[in-house]
Amino acid sequence: MLAIWLVLGLCSPATSLPAQVVLDEPQLHSLHTGDRGLHGRFLHITDVHPDPFYKHGAHPSTACHRKKPKKKRRAGYYGTAYKECDSPLALTNFTLDNLEERWSDEIDFVIWTGDSARHDNDDKIPRPLSEVYELNRAVAEKMKQVFSSKGIPVVPTIGNNDVWRAHFCFRCSFLRLTSAEYIFDFSAQYPSSRLVSFRPNDITRTYSSMWSDFIPPESRASFLQGGYFSVEVVPGALAVVSLNTMYFYSSNEGVDGCPMSDDDDPGNRQFTWFEDQLKVFRSRQLQVWVIGHVPPTDGHYYSRCYGRYVELSLRFQDTILGHLFGHLNTDHFYFMKADDVHVDGDAKLKTFNLTEHTASLFDTLVADFSRLPAPQDGMDYGNYAVVNVNPSVVPNPYVPTFRAYAYNVTGLPTSGVREVGGSERCDRVGFRGSPDYQGKSESGAMKWEGRDELKGCGVDFDGRVPFGSPSRRNLLWTPLGYAQYWMPKVEEYDARDTPEYELEYLTFSLSRLHAGGRTSNAQPLIPLENLPEELRDTGVDKSKYAPYGMDDLTIASWVELARRIGKDGGKVRKRFRKYMYVGGKAET
Ligand SMILES: *[C@@H]1O[C@H](CO)[C@@H](O)[C@H](O)[C@H]1NC(C)=O
Ligand SMILES: *[C@@H]1O[C@H](CO)[C@@H](O)[C@H](O)[C@H]1NC(C)=O
Ligand SMILES: *[C@@H]1O[C@H](CO)[C@@H](O)[C@H](O)[C@H]1NC(C)=O
Repeated sequence: MLAIWLVLGLCSPATSLPAQVVLDEPQLHSLHTGDRGLHGRFLHITDVHPDPFYKHGAHPSTACHRKKPKKKRRAGYYGTAYKECDSPLALTNFTLDNLEERWSDEIDFVIWTGDSARHDNDDKIPRPLSEVYELNRAVAEKMKQVFSSKGIPVVPTIGNNDVWRAHFCFRCSFLRLTSAEYIFDFSAQYPSSRLVSFRPNDITRTYSSMWSDFIPPESRASFLQGGYFSVEVVPGALAVVSLNTMYFYSSNEGVDGCPMSDDDDPGNRQFTWFEDQLKVFRSRQLQVWVIGHVPPTDGHYYSRCYGRYVELSLRFQDTILGHLFGHLNTDHFYFMKADDVHVDGDAKLKTFNLTEHTASLFDTLVADFSRLPAPQDGMDYGNYAVVNVNPSVVPNPYVPTFRAYAYNVTGLPTSGVREVGGSERCDRVGFRGSPDYQGKSESGAMKWEGRDELKGCGVDFDGRVPFGSPSRRNLLWTPLGYAQYWMPKVEEYDARDTPEYELEYLTFSLSRLHAGGRTSNAQPLIPLENLPEELRDTGVDKSKYAPYGMDDLTIASWVELARRIGKDGGKVRKRFRKYMYVGGKAET
């Protein structure tokens, strides 16, 4: 039943406002009792990086491609931990087979955030674009077989290694990336398919056909044009917007970085499209996950692209459930703040100052968390949005991981229709800093002006209006937590072994885990058979697996955790650091 969008093309987001369709009785019925029913869970998988040249027993210093070392560590059969080697196909195959076996009956959809080709990190074996496509096609076929064929929507996004021919320094902390570390000769080599051309090109055509089972027909046009699309993973209720972050990425020398003066800049066009999508989803009262490959930071994005991203994230905080990204392979979260919207000037300007930022990612985050206002000083949560960066499947430079999210489906209406907020007046609400305003601004400056104009527009920021904001309060669709899985023993397994993805940690407390999340007869948030023995007992109240004890993943809960990490010199901060580097060392 969840595949309904494929068949009926229901409720497709369009640029003009459609009639305000909401769940009707048969649809609601199907959500409860349909072929699959809603489980209140989804998977996030990222940075798979399959490498057909990976050789069991090779020297890790050759990207595990050749040279058997005599004594030193050799490339493992299922992968090589904490080194710069990509995934053997044995690992990528195992991972998806394992997800099929253990998870496909337990989830509603799959988020897959890019980089499904090996790195171009071996001068002796350069990586042609045809190979990038081939590897992507193989992973996409496997995704279809494992998930789509069972009616589980898969939402992919384009990563830098899915388009660029680049020597890629992904171990560099996000604060240290400079374009000098990248060689982007992609556009020179393939002039006819420059991504910046912003029209259907080889890349978008290739992925459009490769991903035809994942991109709904109504979204084909936006995908062909810019490599981005949206899809309703629960028709009429829950959508995912998949962004093409290559247009915002400051290492992409082929784009101009959302300059004020150029409406045709592909980054600006994508923001216009993104804003239209959010407006339509808001008017129809859908909730939205925003996903992409390169996470939004001032540093990874051109400043003005970043400013626009933050502005939309805050303005649509009532509609957006969260922001899920990959690319960095380090497990972390951070805040985008109202202050980040303030961008002066134009074009490729990077306000980001390398000299000022020599600290590690961990130190930077802890410093940022420790500056959060104390609860007694009052805090406007409306000025914050949370980004989650998922660690990678590829054990480069850590070990393989994936994540299972649990979300609230207990508030699913049993009958009738939700109240629809918003009015024509509200659809026109504009903010200084939004494109309408920028058009008139002479300096190109952007500024966050708060959200007062939205009052009375059916948008709830205080929990007063009927449908509320699931990013702020635990309501229907609110993310409740996640379980992080990893494979710490990846290097120990050989061909005869069956590797194991083990639980690394849970964000929620154990009482929450067992309190249930399903519509009827309470089920644990994470299926018991996917938990270690010691957590299956409903009586268990203490465990090393649950150090955070978060009630849910609302913005306030993230702020509270960040305060603890920022303040606490002890346990919680240590755990955060350990998880961040997936048991390995900090970036070097
Ligand atoms: C991985 O799966 C593909 C497709 O099913 C298969 O062709 C290939 O031989 C497998 N490789 C390994 C190493 O298991
Ligand atoms: C970067 O920061 C350093 C140290 O604060 C400062 O001396 C330098 O002028 C800044 N550079 C730019 C380009 O703003
Ligand atoms: C889901 O949200 C409803 C409010 O809509 C709340 O009553 C319920 O406790 C939440 N469920 C969970 C599992 O947190």
